[in-house]
Amino acid sequence: MFGLKASTTRESSPCLLKNVGVSDFNKQHLRLVSYAVEFNQMVEELAAKEPDASDWKRVDALFSRVCLFVSTHFREEEEQMEKFGYPGYPGHKAQHDKFVASLAKIQSQINDRNVKFKGKLSTLLWDWLYNHINEVDVQYRDFFADKGLK
Ligand SMILES: [Fe+2]
Ligand SMILES: [Fe+2]
Repeated sequence: MFGLKASTTRESSPCLLKNVGVSDFNKQHLRLVSYAVEFNQMVEELAAKEPDASDWKRVDALFSRVCLFVSTHFREEEEQMEKFGYPGYPGHKAQHDKFVASLAKIQSQINDRNVKFKGKLSTLLWDWLYNHINEVDVQYRDFFADKGLK
């Protein structure tokens, strides 16, 4: 286990990510969680006010960074799963696709300048990423270790 202390909505609980056994993926997971922290900080700042034009610009920039990095990470995991014939691949990919579809919904709220995106995104990033990494990604650890992937 290795941890990243969240300083925002989950102030009292450190976010402990499980080691998934592949060092590149562990690093990518930490980066995803750091984006979630960054996004929650921004949402907290915006909690008491209507976002102005420059706030929306920051939201756009961070959200596109999140989407880009999420799709890169999912693609890399899926490539390795396909390459080595991971039996859990279809279900795992279905989870990735569902998450990407949720991001697309949030993207359209952001495009419409709808402030509802705030609650949805911070919950989605935290809960989904945390559960997916610790419950689903971790299942490939022994499989990839057997294939020599570190
Ligand atoms: Fe992952
Ligand atoms: Fe995954």
